[in-house]
Amino acid sequence: MLETSVLYASGAIILSFGLVFLLAFSLFLSPTKYVGPPAGSAGPSGKQVSVHVLVLGDIGRSPRMTYHALSIAKHGGKVHLIGYLESALHPDLVNNDNITVTALPTPPQRPPSIPFILFAPFKVIHQIYHLLTLLCYRLPPAQWILVQNPPSIPTLAIARLTCYLRKSSLMIDWHNYGWTILSGTRGPSHPLVSISKLYECIFGRLGHFHLTVTGAMARQLRSPPYSIPTSRPMIPVHDRPARIFQPLTSLKSSRESILNRVLEGNDKALLPSILNNSTRLIVSSTSWTPDEDFSLLLDALVQYASANSSKPLPPIIAIITGKGPQKDLYLSKIADLTKQGRLPNITIKTVFLPFEDYASLLAAADLGICLHKSSSGVDLPMKVVDMFGAGLPVAAYSGYESFGELVKEGQNGRGFETAEELAGILGTLLSEEGAGELKVLKAGAVKEGARRWDEEWDGTVGVAMGFVDKKGS
Ligand SMILES: *[C@@H]1O[C@H](CO)[C@@H](O)[C@H](O)[C@H]1NC(C)=O
Ligand SMILES: *[C@@H]1O[C@H](CO)[C@@H](O)[C@H](O)[C@H]1NC(C)=O
Ligand SMILES: *[C@@H]1O[C@H](CO)[C@@H](O)[C@H](O)[C@H]1NC(C)=O
Ligand SMILES: *[C@@H]1O[C@H](CO)[C@@H](O)[C@H](O)[C@H]1NC(C)=O
Ligand SMILES: *[C@@H]1O[C@H](CO)[C@@H](O)[C@H](O)[C@H]1NC(C)=O
Repeated sequence: MLETSVLYASGAIILSFGLVFLLAFSLFLSPTKYVGPPAGSAGPSGKQVSVHVLVLGDIGRSPRMTYHALSIAKHGGKVHLIGYLESALHPDLVNNDNITVTALPTPPQRPPSIPFILFAPFKVIHQIYHLLTLLCYRLPPAQWILVQNPPSIPTLAIARLTCYLRKSSLMIDWHNYGWTILSGTRGPSHPLVSISKLYECIFGRLGHFHLTVTGAMARQLRSPPYSIPTSRPMIPVHDRPARIFQPLTSLKSSRESILNRVLEGNDKALLPSILNNSTRLIVSSTSWTPDEDFSLLLDALVQYASANSSKPLPPIIAIITGKGPQKDLYLSKIADLTKQGRLPNITIKTVFLPFEDYASLLAAADLGICLHKSSSGVDLPMKVVDMFGAGLPVAAYSGYESFGELVKEGQNGRGFETAEELAGILGTLLSEEGAGELKVLKAGAVKEGARRWDEEWDGTVGVAMGFVDKKGS
């Protein structure tokens, strides 16, 4: 019984991917070559440029695509922002004359009794149907389709097909690779990993214009297995903090009023000692997934609490934001460790904060912690960018290639690879002796955070889409 359904499912998968690959090869052979922004789109004085900004994810949790949309709109472009509507949207998106947010229907959830391999094709077909009707029928054609990768199945293929049918240009914004993420969650030998790798390589080459989050990623995409030809322009667009992230000195609220808003219940008792620096405030946001190993921070805090320095180390309150699959697991671990008395003087709080409060909290904290482990080795954590925007120095996991494009050791942060190293960094930077070093890092963070998205965007995507003249004006 099960065997025949597995057979059918494999058939369906092969069929759907087969169709997609057939499509890819037919497009690959067709002589569409990138020759700059399509006629009629150019220049602030020309016709209004229209762009479909597409992400197969929750728009509220896709900051970079949100910023793309806001930047295009600010320059007078017309944006359809397409994705799932799950969490609250960035406030500037709401009632923006130039942006229409178009929700994709949430895909069906997999019942636990049905295996992933049986369910995946069903979900993909559902997505293909809704994307096709939306992009090729319900929405007017656009000059550009700007699509986030990953997730790339089926968005890259559908976006490329739409471009072919409606004479748009495809701009792929590479945040990461879908196959490396899949390999991290399903294991490197899972059949979908190699399918997804092949798919990304083929459709990657079909993009007319490429954006990457790091220089390291751009170099990698030019080489095998991706081998994106040099006839297709590619520019790194580093993530920059949004306007909402500002150092404390440029905020209206004081540290006290921010902490009063963020701390709840009993924790308010810690407020006076946080304000006089005798309790240190660290902040981390995590997606609670295996590629952000929260046990690194937890182990480091246990070691910090048991460290035998001559002077006792200051108490810590750690505020953790974010939601994700492993949250409950770690909450019970924290409760156990607290009960065993292994976290004396350490308070760990998980909170959910509105965007504005999160931004203020970063400005009010002493140190940011980032546990992001890059699956591709060439992406960078957005949360560190935001921390710098808020003038917050970081201790960040450093074991990947592009790390140094953002965090400069000893200038705006410190890198670690093990819990021991993180405990050591906490012990140094949070103690009285480390106050001078922390101050240097803070100045470095403020400096790094001062360059903003608008500057970065205008000189790269703005030029590519024809909103901004090259250099100057
Ligand atoms: C929308 O576009 C117009 C130009 O078409 C521009 O003047 C205006 O500032 C834009 N609005 C927003 C909210 O970005
Ligand atoms: C900081 O504030 C706490 C709580 O009010 C107090 O117990 C402590 O003595 C203060 N420490 C310093 C160094 O002022
Ligand atoms: C706490 O530390 C900050 C940053 O180093 C400093 O500006 C502030 O004056 C300190 N507050 C007290 C009460 O020592
Ligand atoms: C601290 O000292 C105690 C007793 O001297 C020892 O048992 C413990 O292992 C030490 N902890 C660390 C982290 O060195
Ligand atoms: C907790 O912190 C206080 C203030 O720094 C310190 O005096 C005390 O020894 C610490 N307690 C433990 C168990 O580390």
